[in-house]
Amino acid sequence: MLIKTAEYLQSEADWRKCPSPNLPEYAFIGRSNVGKSSLINMLVNNKSLAKTSSKPGKTQTINHFLINKNWYLVDLPGYGFAKISKTTREKWQKMISDYLLFRENLQVVFVLVDARLEPQQIDIDFINNLGEKGIPFAIIFTKTDKNSSGKTMSNMQKMKNVLAETWEELPLMLKSSAISGAGKEEILNFIEEINQQYHSNIAL
Ligand code: GTP
Ligand code: MG
Repeated sequence: MLIKTAEYLQSEADWRKCPSPNLPEYAFIGRSNVGKSSLINMLVNNKSLAKTSSKPGKTQTINHFLINKNWYLVDLPGYGFAKISKTTREKWQKMISDYLLFRENLQVVFVLVDARLEPQQIDIDFINNLGEKGIPFAIIFTKTDKNSSGKTMSNMQKMKNVLAETWEELPLMLKSSAISGAGKEEILNFIEEINQQYHSNIAL
C-alpha cells in the first residue's frame, strides 16, 4: 500500500471522545519504549508524526492519525512504565482497556515486543488478556536492527512455544525495524487486506 497522506487528528484520554468510528482502525500497544511511535512514523514515512523519545512514558493518551483519508492508526501509551504513581498507572490501564474493549471500528491491535528479549511475562499476560476478551491482534517484534536475525528467530519461536501452551491458534507474528524499514510492506499489506474486507462488507 502506498501512503499518500498521514495526518495527526487528536489526542484523547477517553475513547468516547475519539474520532467518529466510521473507518477501519489499527492500534499499536506494547511495553513503554518498545518502539510504537517510531514504528508508526516508519510506516507512514514521517519521522515526526508520532512523538518519540529515548525515555519511556512518552505517549500518554490515545492518539489518532488519519491515513490516506481512509483508515486510522492509533498510538497508545505503553504498559509497564515504572516511574508513574499507582493512581496514574490505574488511570492509564483503564483508558487503554476501555478503548480496546469498546472501540467498535478497531480491526486489529498490534502488540509490539522487543525482538532482543525472550518472552516477557508482562507481554504474555497482555496477549492472553486480549485473547480472552476476543480482541483480534498480531504481534510485531521490534528493533530487529539491534539484533542478529538468529536471535530474533529464536525469540519469536520461544513466544510461539509459550502461547501454544494456552492457545490452539497462534497469532500472526511479524518483524520490524524503524531504522531499516524492515516489516513495512508486510504490515501495510496486512492492513490493506483488512481495509478491503471492511469496505466490501460496508458496501453489502
Ligand atoms: P512510549 O510512548 O514511551 O511508550 O514509547 P514507544 O513505544 O512509543 O517508543 P518510541 O517509538 O518512542 O521509541 C523508544 C526509543 O527506541 C527511541 O529512542 C527510538 O529511537 C528507539 N527505537 C524505536 N524503534 C526502534 C528500532 O526499530 N530500532 C532502533 N535501533 N531503535 C528504535
Ligand atoms: Mg510512544
